[in-house]
Amino acid sequence: MKRRIWSTLTALGCLVLIAADAPAPILLRAQAWTAPGGGLAGALTREPHECLAARTPETEIGRALFRSPALLGGPAARMGLSCNACHTNGRINAHFFAPELTDRAAAADVTSEWSSRVRGDGVNNPVDIPDLTGIGRRETFGRRRDPSLEHFTNGVITEEFQGPPPPPQALAGLLAYLRALDADPCEPGESDISLASAADDVHRALSAAANAEPATASLLALSAQDAMGRIAERLPARRFRSERARLEALSRELGRMREAEDIGAALETASWRSRFDALIARLTRRERRSYFNEATLRSALRE
Ligand code: HEC
Repeated sequence: MKRRIWSTLTALGCLVLIAADAPAPILLRAQAWTAPGGGLAGALTREPHECLAARTPETEIGRALFRSPALLGGPAARMGLSCNACHTNGRINAHFFAPELTDRAAAADVTSEWSSRVRGDGVNNPVDIPDLTGIGRRETFGRRRDPSLEHFTNGVITEEFQGPPPPPQALAGLLAYLRALDADPCEPGESDISLASAADDVHRALSAAANAEPATASLLALSAQDAMGRIAERLPARRFRSERARLEALSRELGRMREAEDIGAALETASWRSRFDALIARLTRRERRSYFNEATLRSALRE
């Protein structure tokens, strides 16, 4: 009898241990490239400051595309990676850890077979992710000391990540954004990822789309849809059912406008932006209960 009690207790103990070791549930896409373990909720609700010295229609095109997986191709794009996943706000994502690309945080194998058939060298050799602040003042780029930022960036998109060659205006915008990452002094520290900052990303991508040529405008509308996805995933499904449905409907509507001759005019006619703003205002009142809030996210991740 005593033995039976002991074995029951041991079995229960094992269950408790297994429960404690169970991996966190996957709630946000960024978890696929964020180091697991303690402090996950903090890592997913804060980001380093962006040090932007200038803001023009061109840099705004680049800013939205820098945050969009649509610029990349292959497995990286399917996973949801963007330039911003590694170079968060043009800085360093200190928590970057995608097992496909690295064996330590804040580094990535830029010659990986996983992301690229062209550049893959069959060796797991991650290098530290660099801060891009001041990149426009550097004379060579990357370890292979490429003398041209344009050539280097095009190579990152089309060779390292198998993306299709970007339309000329998209590439020009991306380069303008990279060169504008140059505020002096560049503040250390972090800011919160909030509903307001996420909604601002959507608006900025759409304003850029309204100023762009059709091919680039379509890519920008896609990046706005992606930014909306980053809002939707932070709304717990049960608590925010109707808001999520509205957000999805707005995103589908935007998807249909992607091929419009003039996306700006199409948005205007449908009063798309004011309906989006009304939804955001409604969500703001309950932001504390969403995964923009660190404590709410922490308990949902069972940290
Ligand atoms: C998976 C992580 C990752 C992604 C995604 C990524 N980069 Fe990088 N990036 C790196 C690493 C690591 C290096 C250092 C590589 C080297 O030295 O050759 C780097 C280097 C650079 C450099 C050169 C920096 C210097 O100091 O020389 C630029 C510019 C750059 N990346 C821009 C981009 C842009 C633009 C995108 C999106 C199109 C992008 N990166 C996507 C990890 C990444």
